[in-house]
Amino acid sequence: MQEGTNESFYAEQISEDIAQTSGLIKAIETILPALERFLQFAKPERTVKERAFWSAQLDEPLPQVGAGAEAVLALLRDVVIPNGLRTGDPGFSGWVATMPTTIPTAANLAGVVSGSAYQCIQAFNLLESQALRWLAELVGLPSTYQGLFTSGGSVANIVGLGAARQYAAERLGIDPARDGIESVAKPRIYASTEVHHVIFRAAAVLGLGRRAVVTIPTDQALRIDMEALQERISLDRATGCTPMAVVANAGTVNTGAVDPLPELEKLCHEQNIWLHVDGAYGLFGVLDPQVTSLYGDLSLADSLVVDPHKWLAAPIGCGCVFVRDASLLERAFTLEPAAYVEESQPVYAGNALLTSQFDDFGNLFHHFGVEQSAPSRGVQVWAILKEIGAEGVRARICRHNGYARHLAERVQASPCLELMSPVILSICCFRYVPSPLRGRVDREATELLNRLNRMILSRVRARGRCIPSATTVHGAFVLRPCYINPRTTLTDVEALAGEVEFCGAEQWALLSDE
Ligand SMILES: Cc1ncc(COP(=O)(O)O)c(C=O)c1O
Repeated sequence: MQEGTNESFYAEQISEDIAQTSGLIKAIETILPALERFLQFAKPERTVKERAFWSAQLDEPLPQVGAGAEAVLALLRDVVIPNGLRTGDPGFSGWVATMPTTIPTAANLAGVVSGSAYQCIQAFNLLESQALRWLAELVGLPSTYQGLFTSGGSVANIVGLGAARQYAAERLGIDPARDGIESVAKPRIYASTEVHHVIFRAAAVLGLGRRAVVTIPTDQALRIDMEALQERISLDRATGCTPMAVVANAGTVNTGAVDPLPELEKLCHEQNIWLHVDGAYGLFGVLDPQVTSLYGDLSLADSLVVDPHKWLAAPIGCGCVFVRDASLLERAFTLEPAAYVEESQPVYAGNALLTSQFDDFGNLFHHFGVEQSAPSRGVQVWAILKEIGAEGVRARICRHNGYARHLAERVQASPCLELMSPVILSICCFRYVPSPLRGRVDREATELLNRLNRMILSRVRARGRCIPSATTVHGAFVLRPCYINPRTTLTDVEALAGEVEFCGAEQWALLSDE
């Protein structure tokens, strides 16, 4: 065939796709040893020091001609994987996020390959529902709550508060999903000053505006001040505002404080205001008998968020929301039927049997949130719960809360460490205080301590044995280890106290020399 003829043109069009579509075992086997090595966390992290070297191998213009499968796998093996993010390192206690354990990792891969969409008649669709049912039972919710997996806590909070918006507007005879919220007078969402910052964005996305979130002061233990909340709601009602929701923290990201849920449940019930519980991090805390009473009766909440990609160690990209009233949630988020989706389904006469897995959508989730296409996330949660059971999760929660309590005791026994907030869940906030500054609360001392503890954080991180994060508590810069990492042991917890003492003395000597 001559070049340029019609024959060669059509031959090109019907040739096979150039991307490899078989040979999965070989491809995965090429990178598996590198992944396993990464998981050993054996060598100190060199990713920052070697940044110029590895980024030079990756940072290139769009290839016009592909390099081929082997080149990609080699880069993954030799350059990308070794320079990934070590949130699963046993010494890492920095975020409310960690690397997945082994079995949900495998389940994730299974979902990518065999459950590439979560609808229709297939095992992954069944596990989506089953995992939600198991999760609800685990945290003490009736199975009648509508659950939904989301990409994380940010979106889960948008969905829960979207339901709250629907509820409050419908009571005024408005359908906000259809007509918007223009005619809802001054909507208000109440939350403590410790609320997670994604709540403000949720209000913005829902068209309420960030300023609709009214922050209420906290008590000394950083829980919402109930009196201040009640006063503010009364004032707002008197001035024509529309109370839309109270957001209760079930484990603040800063200190792990749990708002007084029993009182909030009562208040919201009496005032007929939607109670939304942000337990993205700490809802699983209800499993620890030492703190379970703080959660009251969770089934009195209208919506709740809990993220499997936090304490359950599911792969990142797995959040979850539960809403008591499924039909309300559907009214808030439903998708109109589309010709290419619902309207292309077969019409059955009587009890006609399904003939293809695509003849039915199975348990359909896309009417309850903001995604249409979504990965199969339920399989990851199912895999975790099937592997370790409710007892395994409970043991993890209790162990991690125990780590934080243990660290608090260690801090209180140290002459140069100071505990900065009560330990409720698995976060322990503390700081280094050299003897000349002990007991001082004046501004100069506070500023110096803030500076010193910032220096300590950098130094501890640079040494690499322990990687905590930091936050601010009552104006003080504090170190904030948060234990959710299944790979962390008590030795890592104790090592952190030692590291802070060591770096504290070292950095104080530097500061004092200035
Ligand atoms: C209490 C709380 N809410 C919401 C979020 C946001 O979750 P994500 O980062 O999964 O979007 C977090 C994250 O740390 C959180 O701790």
